[in-house]
Amino acid sequence: MSHLTVTDHRTGAQIEVPITDGTIRATDLKQLKTAPDDFGLMTYDPAFLNTSSCRSSITFIDGDKGILRYRGYPIEELAENCTFLEVAYLLLHGELPAEEQLAVWVNLVKRHTMLHETTKKFLEGFRYDAHPMGMLISTIAALSTVYPESRDIKDPENRSKQIARLVAKMPTITAYCYRHHFGLPYIYPDNDLSFTENFMNMMWKMLEPKYVANPILARALDILFILHADHEQNCSTNTMRAVGSSQADPYVSVAAAAAALSGPLHGGANEEVLKMLDEIGSIESVPAYVKKVKDGHGKLMGFGHRVYKNYDPRAKIIKWTADQVFTVTGTNKKIEIAKELERIALEDEYFVKRKLYPNVDFYSGIIYEAMGFRPELFTVLFAIPRVVGWLAQWQELINDPEQKIARPRQIYTGYAERHVVPMGKRALASKG
Ligand code: ACO
Repeated sequence: MSHLTVTDHRTGAQIEVPITDGTIRATDLKQLKTAPDDFGLMTYDPAFLNTSSCRSSITFIDGDKGILRYRGYPIEELAENCTFLEVAYLLLHGELPAEEQLAVWVNLVKRHTMLHETTKKFLEGFRYDAHPMGMLISTIAALSTVYPESRDIKDPENRSKQIARLVAKMPTITAYCYRHHFGLPYIYPDNDLSFTENFMNMMWKMLEPKYVANPILARALDILFILHADHEQNCSTNTMRAVGSSQADPYVSVAAAAAALSGPLHGGANEEVLKMLDEIGSIESVPAYVKKVKDGHGKLMGFGHRVYKNYDPRAKIIKWTADQVFTVTGTNKKIEIAKELERIALEDEYFVKRKLYPNVDFYSGIIYEAMGFRPELFTVLFAIPRVVGWLAQWQELINDPEQKIARPRQIYTGYAERHVVPMGKRALASKG
């Protein structure tokens, strides 16, 4: 076995630390102490830039080569050959389903698409202009009260039931959030339809007896859902694992993960891309906007990634999908601005040097808008498929005997011990 020899020059002590799977165990460093009562040497890694928090067999990413695989299958092959529910099965169970297994899984999801009527009333309590991400997060958390048995996270059968419920109810909650905004009546799920067709039906059915989704748009949505289904230990998945590690139920854990997703540096970026394109306004204004970003005023939203430093393989598939969608919807000014922005940025030394490429969010928002989704819904559209990844990772966490409650350490930078001064003798505190 390879190992690392570490010399602690504070004391002269030398230890050998095993290297397994290209990593050392941070706890091995605890052997290095300056005194018997010293806690031992720790590692400091804000934002987990170089820390593996788990072993996982779900998703593989090679950021330098632009590779993304779910359970070993390249994302390109899955997007081309599979449906979202097939991929969801793959992520959750480890293998692609055979025909019969898929039929059972699809039926299971269909059986759980409806929301309890009290949940509908809960949604009605929101103001008409509430942000759908806030509504989604709260409604998922509220489902924990509808299914209190979900707290029994150690029972695999019980877990599977909650997983099917969550996967199935995400599109329903999303459509209800949308219809609540406009005061439109809620549309119940239609079991004759596929996962994405049913979602489009719940979103957009008006008075026609049967809503017929455009097949190109339904397939495009399915592909987008496949691309967003998992992405190993990103910010929201890390949140899912952290909250799940306390043995909280899957609804509140998913609500917390969705909250992490809502931030503009994570899943909220797709909404920000549209705002940015609006702000740019015209192709002619692109160079000035790029200059502004280079001068340190803001970021190019939808550009850059913590892991991908070559290109985001999902962005390539999304561009292809966008072209399909535009054959149905026609193109618009924002798409032209986005293409010009990408062209200029990819040639610019600032972006080239920092290895900044369009990420999955750069084009997804443009596609969603062309399909008729409002920008406020974009991050919710990201959450619908990502719930599968969160739940697959949650299952893995629960079955991993090495995992414990997530509890990092800190470097304390505050005062040493001091004592309370009586009120009359305290000086005005400076603002902390
Ligand atoms: N526009 C302009 N400059 C950027 C951008 C950007 N989008 N992203 C990074 N940079 C610059 C940084 O300012 C930094 O420059 P410096 O070295 O001169 O200080 C350098 O590139 C490195 O950036 P970091 O912030 O260290 O990269 P990090 O890995 O921490 O951040 C992140 C990754 C958060 C995705 C970042 O690129 C970003 O904020 N992008 C815009 C938001 C976005 O699109 N988020 C979606 C990510 S994908 C997803 O969550 C689904």
